[in-house]
Formats: sequence, structure tokens, C-alpha cells
Amino acid sequence: MKVTVVGAGNVGATVADAIAVKEVANEVVLVDIRENFAEGKALDMWETAPIRLSDTRLTGSTNDYSKTAGSDIVVITSGMPRKPGMSRDDLISTNAKIVKSVTESVVKYSPDAIIIIVANPLDVMTYAAFLTSKKSRNKVFGMAGILDTARYRAFLAEELNVSPKDIQALLMGGHGDTMVPLPRYTTVAGIPVTQLIDTDKLDAIVERTKKGGGEIVKLLGTSAWYAPGYAAAQMVEAIARDQKRIFPVCTLLEGEYGHENVALGVPVVLGKNGIEKVIEIELTDDEKKLLDTSAEAVKSVMKVLDDMKLF
Ligand code: LAC
Repeated sequence: MKVTVVGAGNVGATVADAIAVKEVANEVVLVDIRENFAEGKALDMWETAPIRLSDTRLTGSTNDYSKTAGSDIVVITSGMPRKPGMSRDDLISTNAKIVKSVTESVVKYSPDAIIIIVANPLDVMTYAAFLTSKKSRNKVFGMAGILDTARYRAFLAEELNVSPKDIQALLMGGHGDTMVPLPRYTTVAGIPVTQLIDTDKLDAIVERTKKGGGEIVKLLGTSAWYAPGYAAAQMVEAIARDQKRIFPVCTLLEGEYGHENVALGVPVVLGKNGIEKVIEIELTDDEKKLLDTSAEAVKSVMKVLDDMKLF
């Protein structure tokens, strides 16, 4: 199993590191445009192998995609992160061009790779990579739902003073302030969360989750990397080990939930073929309305992409 991670910044390095720690792949290639940057990061990580007892061979490359040839999975993290005061959507003009050119290079050397997008604005960058790669939707999709759900679960674990391991939850929609955490599909060791927490507190956690990325940007002056990196690595693991895990993943909808031609977070089964199934769950009218609002928000950013005339 060969995995390429494009972008050796904070998120990309965390993805590569998480893959190596869990020995999800025997080979990880880290690529960056900065001279020697990926080489340095990869070498530092590789030198941890005898300490961590990991067999995963890590190498780096300065923009030489021939080193990525024959990758099974490629994670694209390249692009600018947010600064305080920016929304994810403000990044589109820079990141769309980067994601397009990176995807072209990736497909040239690894035509059969499954591509996971992590660059923001996530849903629209996933759509851009889908258009560029000309692959089927089950092979090109985006990471956001695992991250957003993880934040929601972490906040619930803290509030309830229970292990995050016991919190199961589902969150749908775009990776932005319109995302849709679903308390009706949230349980704590099988117990509906609504039986364990007051409505006010749950509502506050839902709101905090929606702005979870911005909370980190405010604290750090740049966007998060540990949780995004581990979330992307979890998707790589599900594919590499053919785990058939169910995660919310950003995928191009083809009529599911009443939407098409929009990339949106929905629950899917992830295995060796990438997205093996899109799961359609029942939503109440209110939940459906929230999802529709989120889809509209993503479509308005897609319009900005269309106007760039890159495709
Ligand atoms: C976040 C960024 C990575 O949500 O979108 O932290």
C-alpha cells in the first residue's frame, strides 16, 4: 500500500505521521512545493521509526510527482490555511488553482489512486478535484465529516464527563457554519444523548461544533491540524484495510437527499473501493431544511468556482 500526501504543512505532516504510527501503509510519500521541506519532514518522521517500531517507509519530494507514481491513495492537503477573520470560502481563488494543478499531477502518475481532499473550502475543492480527475465519485471525495463529528463528540464527552469512545454521532452537510450535527442520531453507549443532557446545553454544543474550526483559528492564528490530520488518516485506514466503516464524507450527490451536482457531507461506507455506498437516512422536515440550507451555502461557493472558468 503506497500513500501520497500532498502538502507537508501541519495537516499533511500530521496525516503522514498518523499513517506511519498505525502502519496503515508500507510507503508514504510526502510532497511539497517548498524546496527540501517534504524531504526534511519525511526524514525526521522516518527517524522515529526505530523508536516507534513502525515499518512505514517515509520519503519526501519537492514537487516531483514521479516519486508518487503508483500510489493507491492520495491525500491532498495543499493550499492556504485560514487566518483570523477569514471564512473557509475566502480561500477559493488561491486554493482552487492549487487543487486543480495538484490533482492533474496526481492523476498523471497514479491514474488508479483514490483521492481524498482536505483543502478548503472543502466541499467545493472536492468538487474541483472530481471535475479535474474525471474519476467516478467513489474514488474522489473529501474529509470534513469525521473532523466535525469528532469535535461534536469531544465537546459532548467533556460536558457529560464520559469517554469520547462511547459517543457515536452523525453530522451532515457542508464543512462550514451551516453544517448539520444531528442530535437525533447521537448516542452515548447506545443511550440517546437527549436523555443525558439538557436541550440548552446540547444546542450550545451544536453551535460550538459548527464554529469549531474558527475557534481554533482564533486561538492559534491559523487553522487546526491535529484533528484534521487524524481524521484524514482514519479515512486512509478504512480504505487501506477495507474496513467498511461508516463515516460522514463529502461526496458528489447524485439525487440522494434531493440534491445533485453538489458535493456535500453524507454518511457513506468506506472500504477498498473508496465510497462503496452512500447511506440515505431518514430526516425530519426540520433536519432536511437544515441540510438544504447547507447545500445552498455550498452551491453559492460553487458559483464562485464556476465564475473562475477553470473547467
Ligand atoms: C478546520 C479546518 C481545517 O475545520 O477546516 O479546522
